[in-house]
Amino acid sequence: MKGFIAVFDSGVGGISVLREMVRLMPNEDFLYYGDSKNAPYGTRTTEEVRALTVEHTEDFLTRGAKAVAIACNTATSAAARVLRQMHPEVPLVGIEPALKPAVEKYPTGRVLVLATPMTVREEKFLKLLNRFGGNADVIPLAAPGLMEFVERGELDSPDLRKFLMELLAVYRVGGSHQVDAVVLGCTHYPFVAQVIGEVLGDGVEIFDGSYGTAKELKRRLSEAGLANPAEHSGSVTFENSAPTKERMALCEKLMIS
Ligand code: DGL
Repeated sequence: MKGFIAVFDSGVGGISVLREMVRLMPNEDFLYYGDSKNAPYGTRTTEEVRALTVEHTEDFLTRGAKAVAIACNTATSAAARVLRQMHPEVPLVGIEPALKPAVEKYPTGRVLVLATPMTVREEKFLKLLNRFGGNADVIPLAAPGLMEFVERGELDSPDLRKFLMELLAVYRVGGSHQVDAVVLGCTHYPFVAQVIGEVLGDGVEIFDGSYGTAKELKRRLSEAGLANPAEHSGSVTFENSAPTKERMALCEKLMIS
């Protein structure tokens, strides 16, 4: 497969971004690679995540990828800058928490940013906060343990609800720190967005950056003259570093969810 777009995540979460990309670019061939064997990334060191992301990206390029999308907030904050330096000629997009649209909509509101421990402690997030936080009360909240529900295919269960109830108790409608909006700063979380919304309560708006990232990839591809012609019908191939039958079936299921 030559001239494909590699979409990378620590596991199955980036499929939330891939779905948007396929909708926007149905003529492209996508290779989705999930590194479930080494997941979660969010509780690893920055150096470990950087090394894993660089290693996989090198492999995609060797195999003929024409563009790379890092569909993982954690890997983006660890490695996007160094990868752009290493391969300035390759269209490479990453993803970051959709703080900007959330603050635009709630300029003086309270905005919760749910992400991995690494994403919220990285310099990239602090820069994002300085740039787009404005006068909003932005609360970064690490949610270690949440991505594992999605990796297991557990998208709604009593255990998931209990986990989220405990994590989000004070931010719920009626809680001491009730929020106006929540930003899903990890690509696994859109798959449990409905439960997150139900736990937080009516009126709390959910933001996620998948569509913005897909749009940016489309723009970068056409700018580089790399978009496939309209008559080409695109494809999606799933690969995973721990490709059990259950996990590969989960990839297909999440893709159409
Ligand atoms: N999907 C990843 C993200 O967007 C992180 C999950 C993990 O901890 O591996 O941040």
